[in-house]
Amino acid sequence: MEKIKQVIENRDVKIKPIWLMRQAGRYLPEFREIRSKNQNFIELCLNETLVPEITLQPLKRFDLDAAIIFSDILMLHYGLGQSVKFKKDFGPMLGDINDVDLNNVTEKNFIKNLEPVYESMNNLSKSLKGGDKSLIGFVGAPWTILIYMLNRQSPKKNLSNDLHNIDKKKSLSKIITKYLKIHIREQVKSGATVIQIFDSWAGLAAKDDIKSIIYNCSADLVEFTKSLGVPAICFPREIIDYKEYVSEVNPSAVNIDYNVDINYISKNINIPVQGGLDPKFLLSDKETLKSESLKILDIFKDYPYIFNLGHGVLPKTDPNMVDYLVNIVKDY
Ligand code: CP3
Repeated sequence: MEKIKQVIENRDVKIKPIWLMRQAGRYLPEFREIRSKNQNFIELCLNETLVPEITLQPLKRFDLDAAIIFSDILMLHYGLGQSVKFKKDFGPMLGDINDVDLNNVTEKNFIKNLEPVYESMNNLSKSLKGGDKSLIGFVGAPWTILIYMLNRQSPKKNLSNDLHNIDKKKSLSKIITKYLKIHIREQVKSGATVIQIFDSWAGLAAKDDIKSIIYNCSADLVEFTKSLGVPAICFPREIIDYKEYVSEVNPSAVNIDYNVDINYISKNINIPVQGGLDPKFLLSDKETLKSESLKILDIFKDYPYIFNLGHGVLPKTDPNMVDYLVNIVKDY
């Protein structure tokens, strides 16, 4: 059985599986090599040969318990017909959603646009089948997808007033949720055994939006994912109240960010927990990395817990430090 499912479904506290957000990416020289020859990031995410290869790169080096498909949450916007480009040292740049006739988007078109992603998933599923490693598919949460759709680039620390006041937010989030479900369903059909839902900008939402978009739409996605027989791990980064989030959204497991009080979480959350380690500790020395990781492992000793970070692996990370971390967790 997959170790991650053993923790989520059987609440096994004896094993502490590990995978890392952004485990495939720029900190790996073998990724940078491929990336340098493939300047168009979206095209790279649609490359049926390279996506499986990149996805498996970290598993070749480290004893990780899951592969997460190399893709991006912004593939949803691409699937809907909103243009997405990545500018070096700046991040994503999206086209104007007003240029997209959302009424004209069909399920068939959307799936056709993302078909190569599902083909890559199928391919990965074949190579991982029968083992104890999970194949994680993922989506952005409706709120975070909406933010990128309207803001057209990564937001800063605060959202502009224009963004807070847009009245079509609710109707757009309904459309987004509809297509996120399709994207989840197609990934599961193609072999994803776990779905992670990234709400990277949950911390920027105002009270009204927390209730009407983050809670309502995420709960809808979680319920849908569970109905497919697959666990949903939610990552509501920097949400104020993890306890309320868990009771409103009801995920199969929750990934915590690195600003939360881990002791509070271990006492107040009664579902399996994932993550929490500040990715900056991978940039420090081995001693610090070890003591910080052991702190977390000790706190979650008797809890169903999956080791991960409180956000993605940073590009400056030394792969040897990742190896060291994986061994700390394996030896625990
Ligand atoms: O975790 C993995 O290994 C799987 C791959 C993955 C990527 N993006 C690849 C990627 C996953 C799970 C994501 C999710 C994602 N994408 C999120 C949610 C998680 C988070 O980080 O908060 C968000 C907000 C995005 C949007 C996005 N994609 C941004 C803001 C950027 C630019 C900033 C950055 O980190 O480079 C990307 C690009 C991106 N997505 C890269 C990778 C490996 C870097 C692309 C490059 O090589 O230039």
